[in-house]
Amino acid sequence: MIPLRIKIQNLGAIPQADIDLTSVGLCSLVGPNGAGKSTALTWAPLFALYGETKNGCSVDDLVRRGTTEMAVEFDFEHHGDTYKVLRTRSTKGRGKSTLELQKQAGDIWVSESGASIAETQEKINRLLGLDANTMVSSSMILQGKSGEFTAKSKGERKAILAQILQLDQYGDLQEKARAKAAVLKAEIDKVNNQIEVLNGRLTGMEETEADYQAAKVELDILAAAVAIDEIELQKADAELARVNARVEQIDKLFAEADTIRADVIRKTQDRDGYLKRIESAKKILDQESEITARVAEHEQVKESITVLKTKQQRYGQVLSELSKAKTDMLEVDAAVAKVASQILSVKTLLTNTETLKTAAAEYDLLADKLTKLDQLHSQYVELGRQKAETNAKLLVAKNELTSKQNKLKMQIENCAVAATMLQDCECVDIEKANCKFLANAKQASADQVQFQADLDALKSDDVDMYADELLLMDEQIQTLGYSPEEHSKSRTESMRLKPLADQYAQLSGKTELLVTLSETEKGHWERKSSLEAKVAELQAEHDSLLKELSGLSAMQDKLQRLEIWVNLQQQIPAAREILNTTQQLADRLGTEITAGTTKADELTEEYLSTVSGVKDEQKTAQERSEELRRGVTLKRGQENALHAKIGALETKIADMQMAGEERKRLVAELEPQTKKLVRWQTLVKAFGKDGIPALIIENAVPELERIANEILGQMSAGKHHLRFETQRELKSREGVAEALDIIVGDWSGERPYETFSGGEQLRIDLAIRFALSELLARRAGSKVEWVVIDEALSNQDAKHRQMVVDAIKNVADRFKKVIVITHDPELMDAFGQSIQFSIKEDNTREVMVA
Ligand SMILES: Nc1ncnc2c1ncn2[C@@H]1O[C@H](COP(=O)(O)OP(=O)(O)OP(=O)(O)O)[C@@H](O)[C@H]1O
Ligand SMILES: [Mg+2]
Repeated sequence: MIPLRIKIQNLGAIPQADIDLTSVGLCSLVGPNGAGKSTALTWAPLFALYGETKNGCSVDDLVRRGTTEMAVEFDFEHHGDTYKVLRTRSTKGRGKSTLELQKQAGDIWVSESGASIAETQEKINRLLGLDANTMVSSSMILQGKSGEFTAKSKGERKAILAQILQLDQYGDLQEKARAKAAVLKAEIDKVNNQIEVLNGRLTGMEETEADYQAAKVELDILAAAVAIDEIELQKADAELARVNARVEQIDKLFAEADTIRADVIRKTQDRDGYLKRIESAKKILDQESEITARVAEHEQVKESITVLKTKQQRYGQVLSELSKAKTDMLEVDAAVAKVASQILSVKTLLTNTETLKTAAAEYDLLADKLTKLDQLHSQYVELGRQKAETNAKLLVAKNELTSKQNKLKMQIENCAVAATMLQDCECVDIEKANCKFLANAKQASADQVQFQADLDALKSDDVDMYADELLLMDEQIQTLGYSPEEHSKSRTESMRLKPLADQYAQLSGKTELLVTLSETEKGHWERKSSLEAKVAELQAEHDSLLKELSGLSAMQDKLQRLEIWVNLQQQIPAAREILNTTQQLADRLGTEITAGTTKADELTEEYLSTVSGVKDEQKTAQERSEELRRGVTLKRGQENALHAKIGALETKIADMQMAGEERKRLVAELEPQTKKLVRWQTLVKAFGKDGIPALIIENAVPELERIANEILGQMSAGKHHLRFETQRELKSREGVAEALDIIVGDWSGERPYETFSGGEQLRIDLAIRFALSELLARRAGSKVEWVVIDEALSNQDAKHRQMVVDAIKNVADRFKKVIVITHDPELMDAFGQSIQFSIKEDNTREVMVA
């Protein structure tokens, strides 16, 4: 792999850079600290190819601060083709990455990317054949990490060496060989299993054939025996058929006798029926005269019942009329009682006529008196009301007068008190005095005189007037002469006399009423006597009818009993007919019954005399036939079993023959397969860790040692040499070549690498790293054809720095490109070509390839 061009956008401190390495061979890359040299030549390719970042950093840490979109484009040549890898990272939102692999075809780039970033990454790894770790170990001596390989563990060193030597391909080859061997082994196992099955099928071949022959002989013997038995069976069946026919004949006799007996039974039943009918016909005809008499009696009873039924209707009518007449009687009785009571009360009234007349006259006088007393009472009440009114007015007038008098008296007293000051005052001239108190006293004295005059002038006119009016009213009341006691007494007496006066007023119509009531009473009595006559008449009829009807029920019973005779009379013609015809039929059936019975007895006798002998014969013939049939069936079964056995043996023998053929074929087929399997298994071993890879490492280690010593010799003027030891030689307990040890020596002998000085260690590191790169280039067909050495010369003194420069120059022709990164401007021209990295004022980078 040869780098051709690196294009950067916002990676680390570099905003933009486009570094064309096409014409670069061995050169120095010079620039100030922080210019972006390491970023451009180590981290840019590692990020583009593998998405790698500096230790412990995230991808987003690589994005130039203040920006969000980072992109690195890396063009390289590989196995004669030109490729481009473009990886981007955006920190916008949740972040986004892209990866693109392209291959140059003429003037255009053709995408070789996979469906996803992971797939594209896988394609890049497969194309380059090494991972980021090996890429760094073989072609980059990173800043401050020149001892990276030596600092790695023995196991890791061995792993890196194995990858440089492409030993992992042997793992793949071993897997393939193992898969092939496994498939082959499975096929062989399958065939072996088939052979095993066939062997099973072939076991007991000889015994089977012997069994087959024995079975055939046995079958022949059995077939002969069956033939003999079958002839015997035919004979026995013929005899059985003959006997069966005879039994059938005899059974027919029995059946015939049975049929005749059944006919005899039927006829006997018929004849018995006829005889019964004849008997009952005879009975009817024997009673003929009695039947006639009884039927006549039936007619008489029937007529009597008809007459009584008519009377029964009349009885019902009489009963209801009687009940009604009795009810009417009760009503008339009630009416008579009522009228009698009315007559009695009218008569009583008429006897008190005089007393009532006197009371009515008294009542009239008292009524006039009461009218006058009521008028006086009204005047008396009015005068009383007026008196009360005047009394009230008198009271008011008196109160007013008293109140005015009291007020004036109090004012006079008050003025008298105020006027006393005039007498008590000795100091002033009262008339001239201008004192307020004296003025008041003088006024009070004057007022007192006035008030006294008013009091004296007060008059009691109203009081007197009302008192006079009252006196007048008392006189008027007196004149009225009204007495409440008399008034009350007269009213009580009037109330007592009023009902008597009323009764007297009513007496005027009572005489006519008495006449009317007497007539009504008479009418009631007449009706009552007519009703009594009717009831007596109806009662007599009722009693006579009841007597006659008492025999009706007994007559009805008798009529029912006599109806049997009427029925018998109706049967007489039929009985006569039966006597004429049925007797002949019964006689004829009697003859037939006798003949049938005789015939059945004869047939039964014939049957019984022969049946036992023939049945015995039949049983014997049947048993013989069955026994022979059982024998034949048994032998036939044995024969069939033998046939089946022979058939099965034939199939088995045929199968065994086929299995034998198949087995031969499979054994022949197996031979070349087994040889092939042995070859694949040998390859599995060969591709294993202890096989070819171990041999390659064993061969490569001396070569690595030789190249490294060659370079180290140049760098140390032959002072130092080194030696590699694989763990295989150490024979560790694990016993596998898993590690690579580095032993360094100088003129004083061999010592551990760690005991050497920093400058010495750096030269050893450089020598080994160059050796590794070269070994990789050689072994892998120029796989990595470039080396970047980042700031590896800074800790060398002038003498050794020149020696290292010379050593680099010496090994440079083994690579297509060797770039030595340094911040030391003195080294700018040390390697002929140089790339200058400078920071411009606007913080952009300028790259100049010279
Ligand atoms: N994400 C980033 N954004 C901005 N600047 C960054 C970022 N990452 C790294 N830097 C800076 O980029 C600069 C370039 O680093 P780099 O290691 O490439 O420089 P250099 O030229 O190799 O320097 P030196 O000679 O010191 O090795 C450094 O100053 C570093 O701090
Ligand atoms: Mg640097």
